[in-house]
Amino acid sequence: MLLTSVLVLLCAGLFDVSAAPQQVPIEVPAVAKPRKLHGRFLHITDMHPDPSYRAKTSDATACHRKKGKKKKNRAGYYGVPYSECDSPLRLTNLTLDFIEKKWASEIDFVIWTGDNARHDNDRKLPRTPAEIYDLNRAVASKMTAVFTSRGIPVVPSLGNNDVWPHNIMIPGPNSITNEFGSIWKAFIPFPHLQIFQRGAYYAVEVIPDSVAVISLNTMYFYDSNKAVGGCEFKDRDDAGNLQFDWLEVQLKGFRARGMQVWISGHVPPSPGNYFPECYVRYVELALRFQDTILGHLYGHMNADHFFFLEADDLDIVEPATSPLRGQQDLFETLLADFAAMPKAKVINLDEYAVINVSPSVVPNPYLPSFRVFSYNVTGAAITNLGRKHGHRRGKNKDKAAQCKLDAYRETWRCQLNEEWHSDADAPSRSNQLWTPLGYAQYYIPHLEDGNKTHKPSFKLEYVTYQPDALMGSEGVYPVPSKNLPSKVKKKHTPYGLEDLTVGAWVALARRMGNSKKLSSFFKTYMYMA
Ligand SMILES: *[C@@H]1O[C@H](CO)[C@@H](O)[C@H](O)[C@H]1NC(C)=O
Ligand SMILES: *[C@@H]1O[C@H](CO)[C@@H](O)[C@H](O)[C@H]1NC(C)=O
Ligand SMILES: *[C@@H]1O[C@H](CO)[C@@H](O)[C@H](O)[C@H]1NC(C)=O
Repeated sequence: MLLTSVLVLLCAGLFDVSAAPQQVPIEVPAVAKPRKLHGRFLHITDMHPDPSYRAKTSDATACHRKKGKKKKNRAGYYGVPYSECDSPLRLTNLTLDFIEKKWASEIDFVIWTGDNARHDNDRKLPRTPAEIYDLNRAVASKMTAVFTSRGIPVVPSLGNNDVWPHNIMIPGPNSITNEFGSIWKAFIPFPHLQIFQRGAYYAVEVIPDSVAVISLNTMYFYDSNKAVGGCEFKDRDDAGNLQFDWLEVQLKGFRARGMQVWISGHVPPSPGNYFPECYVRYVELALRFQDTILGHLYGHMNADHFFFLEADDLDIVEPATSPLRGQQDLFETLLADFAAMPKAKVINLDEYAVINVSPSVVPNPYLPSFRVFSYNVTGAAITNLGRKHGHRRGKNKDKAAQCKLDAYRETWRCQLNEEWHSDADAPSRSNQLWTPLGYAQYYIPHLEDGNKTHKPSFKLEYVTYQPDALMGSEGVYPVPSKNLPSKVKKKHTPYGLEDLTVGAWVALARRMGNSKKLSSFFKTYMYMA
C-alpha cells in the first residue's frame, strides 16, 4: 500500500512538467514490477565471512596463523567442517554464486537472518566496528547484485555478531542503526527508514498487498544483551517493549488488510535465548496472530531444528516446578518436548506456533547449508479476503488468582488479555494460498575435498515433502528438477510432510517422539553427523 502511494507520488512528480528544477531521475524500486510468482523463497543465515582466514593454518588459531599439523585441524581451501573457524570469503562467494546459478530464477524473495561478520574468537586479532561494517557491506552488495538487481526483494536482519562488541546493542538511534540503515539501503522500504533508525526493525511487502516479511531486531530480546532492560512490564520504554508495541501495530495492520506475514530474525525466541518477559510477549503475539503469521524463521543456533511456542508458556509456573530448559543437549531437550505432546484427539492447535531454525552457511560447528521453501501460489491473483473468525482464550482460573499476587500482577503474563485470532481455516493451519508447503535443504557434505582446482559442491541434504510431491502437480514443482539429484532416495524424504501447517509440524513432532528412526534422522540433520 505504502509502496504504491510512493510510486503514485513519484509518477505525479515526473508528469508535472511545470515543476522546476528538473529532478534527478528516481530509481523506481524493482519490487514494484508485477512479477510471475514461483512459489519459492530462500532462507540463508550465518555466513560469517572471515577475511583473515588462511588455508593450511591451524584451527587452534581460528584458522588465522601457524601451520595445522594434522589434516584434521588444518584449514582447508574452502573452510574446515565441524570446526570453530569461520568461512573463507571463497566459501561465502561459492555459496552465493551457486545460489545465483541454480536458484535466482526460481525464487520470489530472500530471508537473510544475519551474522555476516566473523566471530570474535581470536584474542590476537580482535574485531573492530569498521571490519564488521565492511564485511556486512561486502555481503550486502553481493546480495544486491544476485537478487535485488533481478527484482527479488531481500530482507536482512541483524545478528549478534553484526554489532560491536558482539551481543551488545543499546537502544537506537545509534551508530549501528545508522550504519545498517545505509548498508541495507537497497532492502529497507523508505517508509520504514525512520523507525529503523530507532531499532533496526522493519517490514517488507515481498508480494505487495499480499505477503510481508517482518524483520525483527532480536538484539533487544536476547538475554546476552546487557544494554537493554528485557521487556519488563513496568519499563514501557524498554527497547524490547517498544519493538513489541511496533510489531503488534504491524500485525494488526497487515491483518486488517487481509495479508499474511513471515516473521524473521536472528536469535530464535526460546526461553533459553530471550529475557523471560520478552519471551512472554513473543509467544502471546505469535498465538494471538496465528491467523496472520505464516511462520517464524530464525538462525543463530547454526543447527537445523524446529520447536514450538505454546499457550502453556503464558501460564504462571512456580520457579521450582518449571522445567529446566536450555540446560541439556538441544536434541535431547526437543525430543523430550515432542514425546510429551498431547495426543492428536485432545490437542488444541490454536495454542501452538512453530519456530523454524535454519542451519548456517559457516561450517562452525557443522557443514555449510541453506534452505529453499515453497509455498502455495494457486489462485494468487485472487484478492485475499480478511479473516472473519476469532476465539476468546479460555481463562485459566488459577491464573486469575495468581495474577492478584504482587509477584505477578505487573508482569506481561497477567497483562495480556487481548482476543486471539487463531483460526483453523487460516493459511498457517490449512493448505491454501500462501501456505508454506515444504523446504529443500542443501549442504556441502565434503567441504574438505575442495582445493585450488576442485570446488566443493552443494548437494541436496533432504526435503520435507512426500516423495510423490516432487513429481509436481499441474506443472507446479516444489523443487525444480534441475535442483534434485538424478535419483531421489529414501534418505532425502524422511519426513513426508504434506505441507508446513502448524498441524503438520505438531504431528511430525509427535511421530518423532515415538520413533527412533525418525528422531535419528532429526538428530543427523541437526548435527550433520
Ligand atoms: C568474492 O566476490 C566478490 C564480489 O563478487 C569479489 O570482489 C571478491 O574478490 C571475491 N573474493 C574471493 C576470495 O573470491
Ligand atoms: C494450494 O491450495 C489449494 C486450495 O486453495 C489446493 O487446492 C492446492 O492443492 C494447494 N496446492 C498445493 C501444491 O498444495
Ligand atoms: C584437488 O581435489 C581433486 C578432487 O579431490 C583431486 O583429484 C586433485 O588431485 C586435487 N588437487 C590438488 C592440487 O590437490
